[in-house]
Amino acid sequence: MILLTSAGGKTGRAMISTFAAAGEKVRAVMRRDDADAELMSLGAVEVVHADLMDAAAMADAAKGCRAIYYICPNMTEQEQTFGENIIAAAKAAEVDRLVFHSVLHTQVQALQHHWNRLFVEEAILESGVPYSILQVGSYYQNMLPGWAKMKETGIHAMAYEVEAPMSLVDLGDVADAAVKVLNDPGCANGIFEICGPIITLTEKAEILSDVLGQPIEARRLPADDAVAHAAHMGVGEFGQDCMRRMFAHYDIHGLVGSARVLEWIIGRPPVDFETFARKVAG
Ligand SMILES: NC(=O)c1ccc[n+]([C@@H]2O[C@H](COP(=O)([O-])OP(=O)(O)OC[C@H]3O[C@@H](n4cnc5c(N)ncnc54)[C@H](OP(=O)(O)O)[C@@H]3O)[C@@H](O)[C@H]2O)c1
Repeated sequence: MILLTSAGGKTGRAMISTFAAAGEKVRAVMRRDDADAELMSLGAVEVVHADLMDAAAMADAAKGCRAIYYICPNMTEQEQTFGENIIAAAKAAEVDRLVFHSVLHTQVQALQHHWNRLFVEEAILESGVPYSILQVGSYYQNMLPGWAKMKETGIHAMAYEVEAPMSLVDLGDVADAAVKVLNDPGCANGIFEICGPIITLTEKAEILSDVLGQPIEARRLPADDAVAHAAHMGVGEFGQDCMRRMFAHYDIHGLVGSARVLEWIIGRPPVDFETFARKVAG
């Protein structure tokens, strides 16, 4: 049995499907209680309701599991406590592996929510639990909620420079890599960058124009507009601050890693943006 946290989120759902297709039994942990049937239909064999703040509940949830796939909620002030609770649960359950779904460039202090995660990575390294850490780039799939609006307006907008280099990645490739890392004893005690080839907003817009057969313009959305939208969607002060810092950093540096590691893990080239776009358009 694999314990999977934040199972009802975008990443968690992708992991359930891929893990189940690989024959893994997934115990899905989520807070909400309105999506059990959906998670079971994706392939989870058990759904447990628990808050990552609740150390005892997490320890209970991990009982009998051979591994934990730890997804932390995004941009949270509780990053460290959540991490401590998961490490304690992993130790108590004596799991063979704790896989941490982390982010690219936890070394960068300017990226507040990435930097906070560095200390969870450090605690995992010092925990004595066999671990794997995946430092994952931004997903292509993040643009899906805005896909219809992009087609309607002819504008692909993000809150950073249109020429900023980004190592985006297909969430399906991330899930394929996750299941391989989880089950490969040679990946124990390893830290892996999981990202695809570099692409800019301008290049994405050119590909989208071709795929959709209509002109799509790359445009830099003011960071304040993106943060205001996030606030409207329920992102709190801490998350809003993380977003402002992130966009300012992306403006100058983008977010770039090496796609070689992902290719090596999944045994094929990562899905490129054009393939992703054609699949969504089709
Ligand atoms: N999106 C990306 O491009 C990307 C790229 C690389 C890495 N990541 C990382 O992947 C992780 C997940 O991102 P996502 O985009 O999939 O997030 P998401 O869709 O917002 O899902 C987050 C999940 O966290 C759960 N959650 C929040 N607070 C919780 C708590 N106190 N206890 C238990 N569960 C809690 C929520 O569960 P409920 O719905 O039950 O409240 C929700 O299902 C983040 O750590 C992020 O940094 C994301």
